[in-house]
Amino acid sequence: MLKIGIVGLGFMGKMHFRCYKSHKNIEVVAICDADLKQLKDTSGVKGNISGAEEKLDLSNISLYSDLSKMLAEEKLDAVSIATPTFLHATHSIEALEAGLHVLCEKPMALNSADCLKMSAAAKHSGKILQVGHCIRFWPEYVQAKEIIDSQKYGNVLAATFQRLSLTPTWSWDNWFLDGNRSGGAMLDLHIHDADYVQYVFGTPKAVFSQGVLGPSQDYDHCHTQYLYDNESVITAEGGWIMSPGFGFEMSFKIMLEEATLIYSSAQEATFRIYPKDGEMVKPDIPEGDGYSFEIKHFVEHISGKNVPSVITPEQSADSVKIIEAEKESIRTMEKSSIS
Ligand SMILES: NC(=O)c1ccc[n+]([C@@H]2O[C@H](COP(=O)([O-])OP(=O)(O)OC[C@H]3O[C@@H](n4cnc5c(N)ncnc54)[C@H](O)[C@@H]3O)[C@@H](O)[C@H]2O)c1
Repeated sequence: MLKIGIVGLGFMGKMHFRCYKSHKNIEVVAICDADLKQLKDTSGVKGNISGAEEKLDLSNISLYSDLSKMLAEEKLDAVSIATPTFLHATHSIEALEAGLHVLCEKPMALNSADCLKMSAAAKHSGKILQVGHCIRFWPEYVQAKEIIDSQKYGNVLAATFQRLSLTPTWSWDNWFLDGNRSGGAMLDLHIHDADYVQYVFGTPKAVFSQGVLGPSQDYDHCHTQYLYDNESVITAEGGWIMSPGFGFEMSFKIMLEEATLIYSSAQEATFRIYPKDGEMVKPDIPEGDGYSFEIKHFVEHISGKNVPSVITPEQSADSVKIIEAEKESIRTMEKSSIS
């Protein structure tokens, strides 16, 4: 039995808790949250995506308000870090140095310098550091990558990704809407698509972005072109300045030489393939969401199973670097290269 601790019991901490419960060799034995109210409120929560609404049973779980104390008193194998982004680096490094495997929520950290320190701590400890880029595990996005990699419908000519949300007003201490603690919508939300673009197409040579400042006082809506040596047109739009009634939508349209792939979370079972020749195909999509699949991957990895390499700390750091380049491009109104 592997013993897990969760750090930060907000929306994502509750989501991780829910996902760990389905693994027989995993026991969540300790939870740490600096705000006692969060530990007392065991009702489920709703963010801009569903999956953490269930009421939690915290009986038989040791509760802490301080991470160092939890690490000193508990014999853990791994922790999930689901604290606000500005705490990811210190919390992850402390846990790695204590000899634990770490699943840290995305974005890896507030800036790429902190990401490098986290990667170095993981290397030094010899422990696993997985960053929660759940879109790499999201069934429709997994299928799209498999189709692209298979070359079944030829090369990608163009692809566009969208991730749009109402303004997140529900976080602890309203930290989402403080750009200094969250990095704004580009680092918090749009990074999912920047990371997926990197996963599927590789690190772009440069980016060109436009964006607007929003309620976080950082860029809260952007449109980015990812520039490669070939002529494919890869773009992503993301942000959280939509009105409350809009809710949330993630979607993509991928134009291959011989087919078009589309998906939108706003419509059930929309993943569709429109071949140039022939009928539209609705492929079978495995049940479940990217959160459960990313946690399954982490659990298998720390259990010693041979898992495919889906996400490395270095790639997670590169995604933060891409967002930094996008922000620079907005500020300078010029292309920004990714070094
Ligand atoms: N993968 C995804 O799709 C996804 C979705 C939402 C959020 N996230 C990420 O997950 C992380 C958490 O976001 P959230 O929505 O759960 O936020 P949240 O505000 O709901 O929860 C954060 C929790 O951290 C606790 N906390 C604050 N300071 C702490 C400290 N020093 N020690 C321990 N606990 C502390 C807060 O009390 C709160 O319970 C963020 O990095 C966010 O970007 C990822």
